[in-house]
Amino acid sequence: MNKEENYKLELSPTEMKALGYQVIDMLVDYQTSVAGQAVKTQVAQADMEALLRESAPESGSDASALVRKLQEEILIDLEHKIHPRDFAFIPGPSNFVSVMADTIAGGLNIFSGAQLTSSAATIIELQVIDWLRQIFGFEDSAGGLFVSGGSAANLTGLAAARHLILNDDIGSARIYYSDQTHVSNIKALKLLGFQAEQFSSISTDEDFRIKPDELQECVNKDRDAGFKPFCIIANAGTTNTGAVDPLEELLAIRDTEQMWLHVDGAFGAAAALTDKGREVLKGLENVDSLSFDPHKWLFQPYEIGGIIVRDMNHLQKTFATNASYLRDIQGPDSQEVNFFDYGIQMTRGFRALKMWLSIKTFGLAAFRKAIERGIELAELVETELKKSEHWEIITPAQLGIITFRYVIAGLDESALSELNQRIVQSIVDDGFAFILTTSLRGQTVLRICAINPRTSDEDIRLTIEKLGQFGQSAAEP
Ligand SMILES: Cc1ncc(COP(=O)(O)O)c(C=O)c1O
Repeated sequence: MNKEENYKLELSPTEMKALGYQVIDMLVDYQTSVAGQAVKTQVAQADMEALLRESAPESGSDASALVRKLQEEILIDLEHKIHPRDFAFIPGPSNFVSVMADTIAGGLNIFSGAQLTSSAATIIELQVIDWLRQIFGFEDSAGGLFVSGGSAANLTGLAAARHLILNDDIGSARIYYSDQTHVSNIKALKLLGFQAEQFSSISTDEDFRIKPDELQECVNKDRDAGFKPFCIIANAGTTNTGAVDPLEELLAIRDTEQMWLHVDGAFGAAAALTDKGREVLKGLENVDSLSFDPHKWLFQPYEIGGIIVRDMNHLQKTFATNASYLRDIQGPDSQEVNFFDYGIQMTRGFRALKMWLSIKTFGLAAFRKAIERGIELAELVETELKKSEHWEIITPAQLGIITFRYVIAGLDESALSELNQRIVQSIVDDGFAFILTTSLRGQTVLRICAINPRTSDEDIRLTIEKLGQFGQSAAEP
């Protein structure tokens, strides 16, 4: 058939299988060879533009040749997020079983918005959310749903807070968070209609944890001035340093002030699966809403985030709507859950499938060990750094993250910043590992987030050795 006439957008069974096998071969080759490649390949933007910019093609071409071109020429300018020496931002060490689950969810095009369209999808999502509810320690009444990521999870939790506490009347409301809080929360507040003067950024202690006394003072002052303090946003694992705010102290403030405590656990909440994590996350089980992000430390491919609220009905009260074209969806069983009534999306992909299939395949014990491994790897980085007097630990290993910098006696702050920036440039250019800087109280520091369970001790040792060599060369006059 002439390609132009293929208006049914179909392939023959033989073509579908050939394309499918080709894609699987590509993915398996990638999984098994990525560790041997540079972590971040560098392709000039102009070359990418030259390769990709064109008018929309009126006629089609061969899918197999296109996939080959993707593999060989186009999808090469990547930060390989599953690479064992990708330590920048939050790495994405996903797992292959979940990749296949995404393929099934896409292949069957499962609509996860309503029980009528797939009761299996609804029940699997309820089940996986319930496993997570138990891991985080919430009571039975808690519940939630999967969303696209941490940003959407924060937006969903804060929308519930606005509705439940303020009845959406935001005029005099005031919100508090620490100076380490992830920008997605601020973005969410803006989307929810709050103005900048309604947020207060509270300073943090030497461990980058919010200062509860300062928070209380700020709340008192706002109340005296006639405002309505209504929400605290706390961190369960900041992006910069992995710091966890003192949740129990914040819960006490929440209780006396009758506010909502939202916790951004996009990075750190997964650590609740481990003994060490539970210790630092004490209090998590009593917060009003918690965002978490399985596409970070629960080893899922993008996109999957999640939100759990202390009372699942809170989400329904916030998001449920009615429309004549939805009337048949409300079946005779009033107990049924239609997820479009619990969050922002109506049409939703079947994100829960990848969590379910990977937990069922590997077991929770394997996930627990994988998270413990991340905590240990950052501790190993700290041990290795301590072997040289040139490395200064800025924040110790916590929840898989450590920050540090190379120091030469006698250099002032700006020279040290420049030196450390040069070290990062060298490691990025080298490609052996991918490490970037962050800024902590005006200091430029190196940051390693080591949550990939496939990272070996040797990967860590060689990375620190290389960084030391780059530090030495950068310091040479
Ligand atoms: C603490 C924290 N919160 C929220 C987010 C936003 O999550 P996402 O990128 O999945 O939207 C991130 C992302 O790194 C994060 O580290």
